[in-house]
Amino acid sequence: MAEPERFYLTSPIYYVNDVPHIGHAYTTLACDVLARFKRLDGYDVKFLTGTDEHGQKVEKSARDAGMDPRAFTDKVSANFRDLGRVMDYSNDDFIRTTEERHTVACQELWRRIDDNGHIYLGTYAGWYSVRDEAFYAEDELSDGADGKKTAPSGAEVEWVEEPSYFFRLSDWEDRLLDLYESNPAFIAPRSRRNEVISFVKGGLRDLSVSRTSFKWGVPVPGDDQHIMYVWLDALTNYITAAGYPETASGDYATYWPADLHMVGKDIVRFHAVYWPAFLMAAGLEPPRRVFAHGWWTNEGQKISKSLGNIIDPLQLVEKYGLDPVRYFLMREVPFGNDGDFSHASMVHRMNGDLANDFGNLAQRVLSMINKNCDGRVPALGAATGDDEALLAAAHGLYGAISPHMDEQAFHEALESLWAVVRAANAYVDHQAPWALRKDDPERMGSVLYVLAEVIRHLAILAQPFMPGAAARLLDQVGVDDGKRAFTDLGPEGALVAGVALPEPAALFPRFAEDEAS
Ligand code: MSP
Repeated sequence: MAEPERFYLTSPIYYVNDVPHIGHAYTTLACDVLARFKRLDGYDVKFLTGTDEHGQKVEKSARDAGMDPRAFTDKVSANFRDLGRVMDYSNDDFIRTTEERHTVACQELWRRIDDNGHIYLGTYAGWYSVRDEAFYAEDELSDGADGKKTAPSGAEVEWVEEPSYFFRLSDWEDRLLDLYESNPAFIAPRSRRNEVISFVKGGLRDLSVSRTSFKWGVPVPGDDQHIMYVWLDALTNYITAAGYPETASGDYATYWPADLHMVGKDIVRFHAVYWPAFLMAAGLEPPRRVFAHGWWTNEGQKISKSLGNIIDPLQLVEKYGLDPVRYFLMREVPFGNDGDFSHASMVHRMNGDLANDFGNLAQRVLSMINKNCDGRVPALGAATGDDEALLAAAHGLYGAISPHMDEQAFHEALESLWAVVRAANAYVDHQAPWALRKDDPERMGSVLYVLAEVIRHLAILAQPFMPGAAARLLDQVGVDDGKRAFTDLGPEGALVAGVALPEPAALFPRFAEDEAS
Protein backbone atom coordinates (compact mmCIF):
# COMPACT_ATOMS: atom_id res chain seq x y z
CA MET A 1 0.00 0.00 0.00
CA ALA A 2 1.21 3.53 -0.75
CA GLU A 3 2.46 5.56 2.22
CA PRO A 4 -0.19 8.02 3.35
CA GLU A 5 0.53 11.61 2.44
CA ARG A 6 1.72 13.59 5.44
CA PHE A 7 0.26 16.84 6.70
CA TYR A 8 2.09 18.90 9.31
CA LEU A 9 0.29 21.81 10.87
CA THR A 10 1.08 24.04 13.79
CA SER A 11 -0.57 26.53 16.08
CA PRO A 12 1.47 29.40 17.49
CA ILE A 13 3.07 28.62 20.81
CA TYR A 14 1.50 30.69 23.55
CA TYR A 15 3.25 33.07 25.91
CA VAL A 16 2.99 31.74 29.40
CA ASN A 17 2.56 35.18 30.92
CA ASP A 18 -1.15 34.78 31.35
CA VAL A 19 -4.15 32.45 31.57
CA PRO A 20 -5.48 31.25 28.21
CA HIS A 21 -8.32 33.26 26.69
CA ILE A 22 -10.64 32.89 23.73
CA GLY A 23 -8.03 34.12 21.22
CA HIS A 24 -5.67 31.30 22.20
CA ALA A 25 -8.48 28.75 22.16
CA TYR A 26 -9.51 29.93 18.70
CA THR A 27 -6.18 29.54 16.90
CA THR A 28 -5.65 26.02 18.23
CA LEU A 29 -9.27 25.07 17.56
CA ALA A 30 -8.91 25.98 13.89
CA CYS A 31 -5.83 23.71 13.74
CA ASP A 32 -7.66 20.93 15.52
CA VAL A 33 -10.59 21.02 13.10
CA LEU A 34 -8.24 20.82 10.15
CA ALA A 35 -6.08 18.12 11.75
CA ARG A 36 -9.14 15.96 12.41
CA PHE A 37 -10.39 16.53 8.88
CA LYS A 38 -7.08 15.48 7.35
CA ARG A 39 -6.82 12.38 9.54
CA LEU A 40 -10.31 11.25 8.52
CA ASP A 41 -9.22 11.91 4.96
CA GLY A 42 -6.38 9.41 5.29
CA TYR A 43 -3.41 11.73 5.88
CA ASP A 44 -0.58 11.03 8.28
CA VAL A 45 -1.13 14.17 10.35
CA LYS A 46 1.21 15.84 12.77
CA PHE A 47 -0.49 18.63 14.72
CA LEU A 48 1.71 20.67 17.03
CA THR A 49 0.90 23.21 19.70
CA GLY A 50 2.74 24.35 22.83
CA THR A 51 4.05 27.20 24.92
CA ASP A 52 6.53 30.02 24.34
CA GLU A 53 8.34 30.29 27.65
CA HIS A 54 11.44 32.45 27.24
CA GLY A 55 12.02 36.18 26.94
CA GLN A 56 11.65 39.34 28.90
CA LYS A 57 7.87 39.31 29.06
CA VAL A 58 7.68 35.88 30.66
CA GLU A 59 10.62 36.64 32.94
CA LYS A 60 8.87 39.79 34.12
CA SER A 61 5.58 37.98 34.69
CA ALA A 62 7.43 35.39 36.80
CA ARG A 63 9.04 38.15 38.81
CA ASP A 64 5.69 39.91 39.29
CA ALA A 65 4.26 36.62 40.53
CA GLY A 66 7.19 36.32 42.95
CA MET A 67 8.25 33.06 41.34
CA ASP A 68 11.32 31.56 39.78
CA PRO A 69 10.80 31.58 35.97
CA ARG A 70 11.07 27.80 35.73
CA ALA A 71 8.43 27.14 38.38
CA PHE A 72 6.28 29.89 36.91
CA THR A 73 6.44 28.53 33.36
CA ASP A 74 5.67 25.01 34.62
CA LYS A 75 2.55 26.33 36.26
CA VAL A 76 1.25 28.49 33.42
CA SER A 77 2.15 26.03 30.67
CA ALA A 78 -0.03 23.47 32.47
CA ASN A 79 -3.02 25.82 32.05
CA PHE A 80 -2.59 25.58 28.29
CA ARG A 81 -2.49 21.81 28.45
CA ASP A 82 -5.64 21.85 30.55
CA LEU A 83 -7.31 24.07 27.97
CA GLY A 84 -6.41 21.46 25.36
CA ARG A 85 -8.18 18.75 27.33
CA VAL A 86 -11.31 20.84 27.78
CA MET A 87 -11.41 21.86 24.10
CA ASP A 88 -10.68 18.25 23.03
CA TYR A 89 -7.69 19.22 20.89
CA SER A 90 -6.13 16.26 19.13
CA ASN A 91 -2.55 17.59 18.98
CA ASP A 92 0.16 14.98 18.47
CA ASP A 93 2.80 16.91 20.38
CA PHE A 94 2.94 19.75 22.89
CA ILE A 95 6.23 21.61 22.83
CA ARG A 96 7.67 23.81 25.55
CA THR A 97 10.55 26.03 24.54
CA THR A 98 12.26 25.29 27.87
CA GLU A 99 12.76 21.66 26.83
CA GLU A 100 16.24 20.34 26.09
CA ARG A 101 15.30 19.17 22.58
CA HIS A 102 14.44 22.76 21.78
CA THR A 103 17.69 24.25 23.08
CA VAL A 104 19.56 21.79 20.87
CA ALA A 105 17.53 22.75 17.79
CA CYS A 106 17.84 26.52 18.41
CA GLN A 107 21.59 26.37 18.83
CA GLU A 108 22.02 24.22 15.75
CA LEU A 109 19.88 26.55 13.64
CA TRP A 110 21.91 29.52 14.88
CA ARG A 111 25.18 27.76 14.00
CA ARG A 112 23.98 27.04 10.47
CA ILE A 113 22.83 30.60 9.89
CA ASP A 114 26.08 31.89 11.33
CA ASP A 115 28.27 29.42 9.36
CA ASN A 116 26.54 30.65 6.21
CA GLY A 117 27.62 34.19 7.03
CA HIS A 118 24.28 35.77 7.88
CA ILE A 119 25.02 36.91 11.44
CA TYR A 120 27.31 39.69 12.68
CA LEU A 121 28.00 41.35 16.03
CA GLY A 122 27.00 44.98 16.59
CA THR A 123 25.10 47.16 19.04
CA TYR A 124 21.37 47.61 19.12
CA ALA A 125 20.24 51.10 20.00
CA GLY A 126 16.52 51.50 19.52
CA TRP A 127 13.02 50.86 20.75
CA TYR A 128 11.75 47.56 22.10
CA SER A 129 8.31 46.51 23.23
CA VAL A 130 8.34 43.85 25.92
CA ARG A 131 4.61 43.18 25.44
CA ASP A 132 5.07 42.48 21.71
CA GLU A 133 8.63 41.17 22.13
CA ALA A 134 9.43 43.26 19.05
CA PHE A 135 11.88 45.93 17.93
CA TYR A 136 10.41 49.08 16.40
CA ALA A 137 11.86 51.89 14.32
CA GLU A 138 11.21 55.45 15.44
CA ASP A 139 8.89 56.12 12.48
CA GLU A 140 6.62 53.22 13.43
CA LEU A 141 5.84 54.73 16.82
CA SER A 142 3.29 57.26 17.91
CA ASP A 143 2.98 59.44 20.99
CA GLY A 144 0.58 58.04 23.58
CA ALA A 145 -1.76 60.23 25.64
CA ASP A 146 0.73 60.28 28.53
CA GLY A 147 3.55 61.43 26.25
CA LYS A 148 5.06 57.91 26.18
CA LYS A 149 5.87 56.34 22.84
CA THR A 150 3.68 53.46 21.76
CA ALA A 151 3.99 50.70 19.17
CA PRO A 152 1.36 50.24 16.42
CA SER A 153 -0.20 47.52 18.63
CA GLY A 154 -0.69 50.10 21.39
CA ALA A 155 2.04 48.52 23.52
CA GLU A 156 4.56 50.63 25.42
CA VAL A 157 8.14 50.68 24.16
CA GLU A 158 11.41 51.26 25.94
CA TRP A 159 14.79 52.43 24.73
CA VAL A 160 17.34 49.63 24.58
CA GLU A 161 21.06 49.95 23.99
CA GLU A 162 23.17 46.83 24.21
CA PRO A 163 25.61 44.64 22.31
CA SER A 164 23.65 42.41 19.96
CA TYR A 165 24.07 39.96 17.14
CA PHE A 166 22.24 40.90 13.96
CA PHE A 167 20.72 38.77 11.25
CA ARG A 168 21.30 40.19 7.75
CA LEU A 169 17.60 40.40 6.97
CA SER A 170 18.23 43.21 4.48
CA ASP A 171 19.86 40.64 2.15
CA TRP A 172 16.62 38.65 1.89
CA GLU A 173 14.20 41.11 0.30
CA ASP A 174 14.39 39.71 -3.22
CA ARG A 175 14.34 36.09 -2.20
CA LEU A 176 11.33 36.66 0.03
CA LEU A 177 9.49 38.46 -2.75
CA ASP A 178 10.34 35.54 -5.06
CA LEU A 179 8.94 33.14 -2.50
CA TYR A 180 5.62 35.03 -2.31
CA GLU A 181 5.50 35.42 -6.08
CA SER A 182 6.16 31.78 -6.88
CA ASN A 183 3.83 30.47 -4.13
CA PRO A 184 0.69 32.58 -4.30
CA ALA A 185 -0.84 30.45 -1.53
CA PHE A 186 2.09 31.05 0.83
CA ILE A 187 0.27 33.75 2.81
CA ALA A 188 -3.49 33.85 3.26
CA PRO A 189 -5.89 35.56 3.27
CA ARG A 190 -5.12 37.92 0.39
CA SER A 191 -5.26 41.06 2.55
CA ARG A 192 -2.42 39.71 4.71
CA ARG A 193 -0.44 38.68 1.67
CA ASN A 194 -0.65 42.21 0.31
CA GLU A 195 0.32 43.64 3.69
CA VAL A 196 3.41 41.42 3.92
CA ILE A 197 4.48 42.10 0.34
CA SER A 198 4.29 45.84 0.81
CA PHE A 199 6.19 45.56 4.11
CA VAL A 200 9.02 43.70 2.39
CA LYS A 201 8.99 46.00 -0.63
CA GLY A 202 9.29 48.92 1.79
CA GLY A 203 12.81 47.65 2.63
CA LEU A 204 14.06 45.36 5.38
CA ARG A 205 16.50 46.35 8.10
CA ASP A 206 18.87 43.89 9.69
CA LEU A 207 17.26 42.28 12.72
CA SER A 208 18.65 42.16 16.22
CA VAL A 209 18.65 38.46 17.17
CA SER A 210 20.24 38.43 20.61
CA ARG A 211 19.86 40.19 23.95
CA THR A 212 22.36 40.74 26.75
CA SER A 213 20.36 42.58 29.43
CA PHE A 214 18.62 39.52 30.86
CA LYS A 215 19.21 35.77 30.99
CA TRP A 216 15.92 33.91 30.47
CA GLY A 217 16.49 32.30 27.10
CA VAL A 218 18.66 30.03 24.97
CA PRO A 219 22.37 30.97 25.09
CA VAL A 220 23.98 31.94 21.78
CA PRO A 221 26.44 29.16 20.84
CA GLY A 222 29.97 30.29 21.55
CA ASP A 223 28.96 33.51 23.36
CA ASP A 224 26.81 32.93 26.40
CA GLN A 225 26.78 36.59 27.32
CA HIS A 226 23.98 36.67 24.75
CA ILE A 227 20.67 34.89 24.70
CA MET A 228 18.74 34.42 21.47
CA TYR A 229 15.96 36.84 20.58
CA VAL A 230 12.76 35.22 21.80
CA TRP A 231 11.13 35.16 18.35
CA LEU A 232 14.05 33.30 16.79
CA ASP A 233 13.83 30.87 19.69
CA ALA A 234 10.02 30.59 19.45
CA LEU A 235 9.76 30.11 15.68
CA THR A 236 12.34 27.33 15.84
CA ASN A 237 9.81 25.23 17.79
CA TYR A 238 8.25 24.23 14.50
CA ILE A 239 11.38 22.39 13.39
CA THR A 240 12.34 21.18 16.88
CA ALA A 241 9.11 19.21 17.00
CA ALA A 242 9.75 17.86 13.52
CA GLY A 243 12.98 16.35 14.84
CA TYR A 244 15.56 18.97 13.84
CA PRO A 245 18.59 18.68 13.68
CA GLU A 246 17.79 16.18 10.99
CA THR A 247 18.88 12.56 11.02
CA ALA A 248 18.81 10.38 7.92
CA SER A 249 15.66 8.51 8.89
CA GLY A 250 14.09 10.92 11.31
CA ASP A 251 10.80 12.77 11.36
CA TYR A 252 12.33 15.95 10.03
CA ALA A 253 12.55 14.50 6.54
CA THR A 254 9.00 13.17 6.91
CA TYR A 255 7.26 16.27 8.18
CA TRP A 256 9.25 19.35 7.19
CA PRO A 257 8.34 21.64 5.47
CA ALA A 258 5.18 22.25 7.48
CA ASP A 259 2.04 22.39 5.39
CA LEU A 260 0.52 25.14 7.46
CA HIS A 261 1.39 27.57 10.22
CA MET A 262 -1.88 28.88 11.64
CA VAL A 263 -1.43 32.26 13.32
CA GLY A 264 -3.32 35.40 14.31
CA LYS A 265 -3.02 38.51 12.15
CA ASP A 266 -0.79 40.24 14.71
CA ILE A 267 2.06 37.79 14.22
CA VAL A 268 2.02 37.30 10.47
CA ARG A 269 5.20 39.32 9.92
CA PHE A 270 7.23 37.04 12.17
CA HIS A 271 5.96 33.96 10.36
CA ALA A 272 5.91 35.16 6.78
CA VAL A 273 9.03 37.36 6.74
CA TYR A 274 11.52 36.56 9.50
CA TRP A 275 10.90 32.81 9.70
CA PRO A 276 11.34 31.93 6.01
CA ALA A 277 14.42 34.19 5.91
CA PHE A 278 15.98 32.41 8.93
CA LEU A 279 15.26 29.03 7.37
CA MET A 280 16.57 29.89 3.92
CA ALA A 281 19.68 31.41 5.51
CA ALA A 282 20.28 28.07 7.24
CA GLY A 283 19.76 26.24 3.94
CA LEU A 284 16.41 24.82 5.06
CA GLU A 285 13.07 24.87 3.28
CA PRO A 286 10.48 27.48 4.26
CA PRO A 287 7.02 26.32 5.34
CA ARG A 288 4.36 25.88 2.66
CA ARG A 289 1.73 28.23 3.99
CA VAL A 290 0.91 30.74 6.70
CA PHE A 291 -2.74 31.55 7.39
CA ALA A 292 -3.45 34.60 9.55
CA HIS A 293 -6.91 34.72 11.10
CA GLY A 294 -8.69 37.74 12.54
CA TRP A 295 -9.32 38.84 16.10
CA TRP A 296 -12.33 38.46 18.34
CA THR A 297 -13.93 41.32 20.18
CA ASN A 298 -16.28 40.86 23.14
CA GLU A 299 -19.75 42.39 22.71
CA GLY A 300 -18.17 44.91 20.33
CA GLN A 301 -15.20 45.81 22.54
CA LYS A 302 -11.53 45.04 22.10
CA ILE A 303 -10.55 42.24 24.48
CA SER A 304 -8.01 43.32 27.04
CA LYS A 305 -6.95 42.53 30.53
CA SER A 306 -7.18 46.17 31.55
CA LEU A 307 -10.80 46.38 30.38
CA GLY A 308 -11.47 43.21 32.35
CA ASN A 309 -13.45 41.67 29.48
CA ILE A 310 -11.30 38.64 28.73
CA ILE A 311 -13.42 35.68 27.61
CA ASP A 312 -12.42 32.54 29.46
CA PRO A 313 -12.87 29.54 27.16
CA LEU A 314 -13.34 27.21 30.13
CA GLN A 315 -16.32 29.25 31.30
CA LEU A 316 -17.78 29.31 27.79
CA VAL A 317 -17.61 25.54 27.56
CA GLU A 318 -19.16 25.18 30.97
CA LYS A 319 -22.02 27.46 30.07
CA TYR A 320 -22.83 26.40 26.50
CA GLY A 321 -21.17 22.99 26.11
CA LEU A 322 -18.09 22.11 24.06
CA ASP A 323 -19.64 21.23 20.69
CA PRO A 324 -21.73 24.42 20.50
CA VAL A 325 -18.69 26.53 21.38
CA ARG A 326 -16.53 24.81 18.76
CA TYR A 327 -19.30 25.18 16.19
CA PHE A 328 -19.92 28.84 16.98
CA LEU A 329 -16.25 29.85 16.75
CA MET A 330 -15.83 28.14 13.38
CA ARG A 331 -19.19 29.25 11.94
CA GLU A 332 -19.89 32.76 13.13
CA VAL A 333 -17.10 34.60 11.32
CA PRO A 334 -15.64 34.08 7.85
CA PHE A 335 -12.28 32.62 8.83
CA GLY A 336 -9.67 35.33 8.33
CA ASN A 337 -11.98 38.21 9.32
CA ASP A 338 -12.37 39.81 12.72
CA GLY A 339 -15.44 38.77 14.65
CA ASP A 340 -17.51 39.68 17.62
CA PHE A 341 -18.45 37.33 20.42
CA SER A 342 -21.78 38.03 22.02
CA HIS A 343 -24.05 35.98 24.19
CA ALA A 344 -26.95 36.74 21.83
CA SER A 345 -25.16 35.47 18.73
CA MET A 346 -23.94 32.36 20.58
CA VAL A 347 -27.49 31.50 21.67
CA HIS A 348 -28.83 32.30 18.23
CA ARG A 349 -26.48 29.76 16.61
CA MET A 350 -27.11 27.20 19.35
CA ASN A 351 -30.87 27.32 19.18
CA GLY A 352 -31.11 27.96 15.44
CA ASP A 353 -28.43 26.04 13.56
CA LEU A 354 -27.85 23.34 16.15
CA ALA A 355 -31.09 22.63 18.03
CA ASN A 356 -33.67 23.62 15.39
CA ASP A 357 -31.91 22.60 12.21
CA PHE A 358 -29.47 19.75 12.79
CA GLY A 359 -30.72 18.49 16.16
CA ASN A 360 -34.34 18.49 15.11
CA LEU A 361 -33.58 16.65 11.88
CA ALA A 362 -31.83 13.86 13.78
CA GLN A 363 -34.45 13.78 16.48
CA ARG A 364 -37.41 13.54 14.09
CA VAL A 365 -35.88 10.87 11.91
CA LEU A 366 -34.47 8.71 14.66
CA SER A 367 -37.57 8.76 16.80
CA MET A 368 -39.73 7.85 13.80
CA ILE A 369 -37.45 4.91 13.06
CA ASN A 370 -37.53 3.94 16.70
CA LYS A 371 -41.31 4.01 16.91
CA ASN A 372 -42.34 2.86 13.47
CA CYS A 373 -39.59 0.61 12.18
CA ASP A 374 -39.06 -1.48 15.28
CA GLY A 375 -35.90 0.49 16.05
CA ARG A 376 -34.11 -0.97 13.01
CA VAL A 377 -32.64 0.61 9.90
CA PRO A 378 -35.50 0.44 7.36
CA ALA A 379 -35.02 -0.75 3.77
CA LEU A 380 -34.74 1.47 0.74
CA GLY A 381 -37.32 0.46 -1.87
CA ALA A 382 -37.57 2.00 -5.34
CA ALA A 383 -36.01 5.46 -5.03
CA THR A 384 -37.91 8.49 -6.32
CA GLY A 385 -36.40 11.56 -7.94
CA ASP A 386 -36.61 13.39 -4.60
CA ASP A 387 -34.78 10.55 -2.86
CA GLU A 388 -32.07 10.55 -5.50
CA ALA A 389 -31.68 14.32 -5.32
CA LEU A 390 -31.22 14.38 -1.55
CA LEU A 391 -28.87 11.40 -1.60
CA ALA A 392 -26.86 13.05 -4.36
CA ALA A 393 -26.52 16.20 -2.24
CA ALA A 394 -25.20 14.09 0.63
CA HIS A 395 -22.82 12.17 -1.64
CA GLY A 396 -21.52 15.46 -3.01
CA LEU A 397 -20.77 16.90 0.42
CA TYR A 398 -17.22 15.66 0.80
CA GLY A 399 -16.33 17.10 -2.60
CA ALA A 400 -17.92 20.41 -1.63
CA ILE A 401 -16.27 20.66 1.77
CA SER A 402 -12.77 19.45 1.05
CA PRO A 403 -11.61 22.46 -1.06
CA HIS A 404 -12.97 24.82 1.61
CA MET A 405 -10.90 23.03 4.23
CA ASP A 406 -7.80 23.30 2.05
CA GLU A 407 -8.34 27.06 2.00
CA GLN A 408 -9.18 27.22 5.71
CA ALA A 409 -12.67 28.50 4.81
CA PHE A 410 -14.20 26.69 7.79
CA HIS A 411 -17.36 28.78 7.73
CA GLU A 412 -17.96 27.76 4.09
CA ALA A 413 -17.45 24.10 4.92
CA LEU A 414 -20.11 24.39 7.62
CA GLU A 415 -22.39 26.31 5.30
CA SER A 416 -22.14 23.41 2.80
CA LEU A 417 -23.09 20.95 5.55
CA TRP A 418 -26.03 23.07 6.58
CA ALA A 419 -27.29 23.35 3.01
CA VAL A 420 -27.83 19.58 3.19
CA VAL A 421 -29.31 19.80 6.72
CA ARG A 422 -31.86 22.31 5.38
CA ALA A 423 -32.56 20.22 2.28
CA ALA A 424 -33.13 17.16 4.49
CA ASN A 425 -35.54 19.06 6.73
CA ALA A 426 -37.44 20.28 3.67
CA TYR A 427 -37.56 16.69 2.39
CA VAL A 428 -39.01 15.47 5.70
CA ASP A 429 -41.72 18.13 5.56
CA HIS A 430 -42.50 17.36 1.96
CA GLN A 431 -42.50 13.55 2.22
CA ALA A 432 -44.35 13.60 5.54
CA PRO A 433 -43.32 10.05 6.48
CA TRP A 434 -45.64 10.08 9.52
CA ALA A 435 -48.60 10.25 7.11
CA LEU A 436 -47.37 7.18 5.21
CA ARG A 437 -47.27 4.95 8.25
CA LYS A 438 -50.70 3.42 7.77
CA ASP A 439 -51.16 3.35 4.00
CA ASP A 440 -47.69 2.90 2.62
CA PRO A 441 -45.25 1.68 5.28
CA GLU A 442 -42.82 0.58 2.64
CA ARG A 443 -42.54 4.09 1.25
CA MET A 444 -42.23 5.43 4.80
CA GLY A 445 -39.30 3.04 5.27
CA SER A 446 -37.63 4.30 2.10
CA VAL A 447 -37.99 7.93 3.16
CA LEU A 448 -36.55 7.19 6.59
CA TYR A 449 -33.72 5.17 5.07
CA VAL A 450 -32.78 8.08 2.80
CA LEU A 451 -32.82 10.40 5.77
CA ALA A 452 -30.77 8.10 7.98
CA GLU A 453 -28.20 7.72 5.22
CA VAL A 454 -28.04 11.51 4.82
CA ILE A 455 -27.59 11.85 8.57
CA ARG A 456 -24.72 9.37 8.40
CA HIS A 457 -22.97 11.60 5.86
CA LEU A 458 -23.61 14.74 7.88
CA ALA A 459 -22.32 13.13 11.06
CA ILE A 460 -19.15 11.76 9.46
CA LEU A 461 -18.32 15.14 7.99
CA ALA A 462 -19.26 17.04 11.16
CA GLN A 463 -16.73 15.05 13.23
CA PRO A 464 -13.84 17.51 12.85
CA PHE A 465 -16.00 20.39 14.08
CA MET A 466 -18.07 18.72 16.80
CA PRO A 467 -16.35 15.46 17.69
CA GLY A 468 -18.61 14.69 20.67
CA ALA A 469 -22.00 15.31 19.07
CA ALA A 470 -20.97 13.67 15.79
CA ALA A 471 -19.82 10.53 17.61
CA ARG A 472 -23.11 10.32 19.53
CA LEU A 473 -25.05 10.74 16.31
CA LEU A 474 -23.02 8.04 14.56
CA ASP A 475 -23.74 5.74 17.49
CA GLN A 476 -27.43 6.47 17.04
CA VAL A 477 -27.41 5.52 13.35
CA GLY A 478 -25.46 2.38 14.17
CA VAL A 479 -22.16 3.25 12.47
CA ASP A 480 -19.26 1.26 13.94
CA ASP A 481 -16.13 3.06 15.13
CA GLY A 482 -14.13 1.59 12.28
CA LYS A 483 -16.57 2.95 9.66
CA ARG A 484 -16.32 6.66 10.32
CA ALA A 485 -13.56 7.82 7.95
CA PHE A 486 -14.18 9.67 4.71
CA THR A 487 -13.50 6.55 2.69
CA ASP A 488 -16.58 5.07 4.39
CA LEU A 489 -18.77 7.75 2.84
CA GLY A 490 -18.99 5.61 -0.27
CA PRO A 491 -21.65 2.95 -0.93
CA GLU A 492 -19.66 0.24 0.94
CA GLY A 493 -20.25 2.19 4.14
CA ALA A 494 -23.99 2.70 3.54
CA LEU A 495 -26.43 1.79 6.29
CA VAL A 496 -27.65 -1.77 6.16
CA ALA A 497 -31.37 -2.49 6.53
CA GLY A 498 -32.33 -4.44 9.62
CA VAL A 499 -29.51 -3.26 11.88
CA ALA A 500 -30.85 -2.50 15.37
CA LEU A 501 -30.39 1.09 16.53
CA PRO A 502 -30.09 2.34 20.08
CA GLU A 503 -32.75 4.48 21.73
CA PRO A 504 -32.47 8.01 20.25
CA ALA A 505 -31.39 10.86 22.53
CA ALA A 506 -31.43 14.63 21.98
CA LEU A 507 -28.26 15.87 20.30
CA PHE A 508 -28.13 19.60 20.97
CA PRO A 509 -29.79 21.20 23.95
CA ARG A 510 -31.63 24.48 23.49
CA PHE A 511 -30.30 27.32 25.55
CA ALA A 512 -33.19 28.72 27.56
CA GLU A 513 -32.83 32.51 27.71
CA ASP A 514 -33.65 32.67 31.38
CA GLU A 515 -30.54 30.59 32.07
CA ALA A 516 -28.49 33.51 30.74
CA SER A 517 -26.23 35.65 32.92
N1 MSP B 1 4.25 33.56 21.60
C1 MSP B 1 3.79 34.22 20.43
C2 MSP B 1 3.69 33.29 19.26
C3 MSP B 1 4.94 32.56 18.91
S1 MSP B 1 4.70 31.45 17.60
C4 MSP B 1 6.22 30.94 17.19
C5 MSP B 1 2.42 34.85 20.70
N2 MSP B 1 1.75 34.33 21.70
S2 MSP B 1 0.34 34.89 22.24
O1 MSP B 1 0.02 34.03 23.35
O2 MSP B 1 0.43 36.27 22.52
O3 MSP B 1 -0.72 34.79 21.11
C6 MSP B 1 -0.98 33.63 20.42
C7 MSP B 1 -2.13 33.72 19.47
O4 MSP B 1 -3.35 34.17 20.08
C8 MSP B 1 -1.87 34.65 18.30
O5 MSP B 1 -2.09 33.93 17.11
C9 MSP B 1 -2.90 35.74 18.46
O6 MSP B 1 -3.31 36.25 17.24
C10 MSP B 1 -4.01 35.01 19.17
N3 MSP B 1 -4.90 35.95 19.82
C11 MSP B 1 -4.65 36.72 20.93
N4 MSP B 1 -5.75 37.50 21.15
C12 MSP B 1 -6.70 37.29 20.21
C13 MSP B 1 -8.03 37.69 20.00
N5 MSP B 1 -8.62 38.61 20.74
N6 MSP B 1 -8.71 37.10 18.97
C14 MSP B 1 -8.17 36.09 18.21
N7 MSP B 1 -6.93 35.69 18.40
C15 MSP B 1 -6.10 36.39 19.25
O7 MSP B 1 2.03 35.74 19.98
